[in-house]
Amino acid sequence: MARFHPLPVAAVDRLTDDSVALTFAVPAELRAEYRHAPGQHLALRRRADGTEVRRTYSICSPAPDPGGDGPHTLRVGVRLVDGGAFSTYALKEITVGDELEVMTPAGRFTLDPAPGLYAAVVGGSGITPVLSIVSTLLAREPAARFCLIRSDRTAASTMFLDEVADLKDRYPERLQLVTVLSREEQQAGLPSGRLDRERLARLLPSLLPVADVAGWFLCGPFGLVQGAEQALRGIGVPRSRIHEEIFHVDVTAAAPGATAGAPAHSTVTARLDGRGGSWPVREGESLLETVLRNRPDAPYACKGGVCGTCRAFLVSGEVRMNRNFALEPEETEAGYVLACQSHPLTEAVEVDFDR
Ligand code: FES
Repeated sequence: MARFHPLPVAAVDRLTDDSVALTFAVPAELRAEYRHAPGQHLALRRRADGTEVRRTYSICSPAPDPGGDGPHTLRVGVRLVDGGAFSTYALKEITVGDELEVMTPAGRFTLDPAPGLYAAVVGGSGITPVLSIVSTLLAREPAARFCLIRSDRTAASTMFLDEVADLKDRYPERLQLVTVLSREEQQAGLPSGRLDRERLARLLPSLLPVADVAGWFLCGPFGLVQGAEQALRGIGVPRSRIHEEIFHVDVTAAAPGATAGAPAHSTVTARLDGRGGSWPVREGESLLETVLRNRPDAPYACKGGVCGTCRAFLVSGEVRMNRNFALEPEETEAGYVLACQSHPLTEAVEVDFDR
């Protein structure tokens, strides 16, 4: 069950003009709760002026040793978003010693370290979870290799430049690093320009044996992730080997569906943290909104179908999900839904947040 705890900020490191890394110290009694898999994220919560803002940020630090007591620190990357309520606060106000409310780790964009070849295509701040994935994999699994293809605007705007260079120095044989800058020529490496579907479809087979890659990790803006997935599918990569995490969704990328098909009255029954309840759904409400009115501890972060924090198992009834950028096809087929995007299509709907 996801929970918030106040964690002290142990370091604030400026990465670029518009991004920072925040490091939290994890007290001994909470380390088991903050144990995380490489690629997971943390939701941060800020309450100010009577409003609450939540944002999810990926953990960039390696996952803790499975045999240990859990992470002693957690580091996340935060990039400034235009007008972003939380990122502006993070870049301009947070200092060492502040306490922030941090949710326990969540997310299924993860890799269980195993021998083999893995690859990632990342754009901008999409490097953040992949940094944790690559560093954990190469440290734990001597028979694993990784090909990291990253794109950014310029070298100066590239997050975690030093951390990635350090990894390349430490694992020169096992980490292949390919950088593409869209607005700047590089002295060495690939010509500048966007990494779109056509370019990736041509580029990938020349970089690595595509059919041998056990897992692809695509992370960044919606357009890049979608283009990379289409390129991979076009060159024969099965969907089951592709993992995706989208960081920014253009509002025009997927329009929410209409409320057509909803019954006049419906009731949601939800199980959360071992306790259940049933409540009427008000017109136009998502399941999450109904549950939150009655159970303020219901898990969520983005409310936009992107982070997956509100994932719940649909026990009975039918729902319509407006947008889904978080659940993999296997999860929806298995019966999971995003509560923040789900609207009842039957008079009774039952969901379980604990499964
Ligand atoms: S709260 Fe982020 S997907 Fe629902």
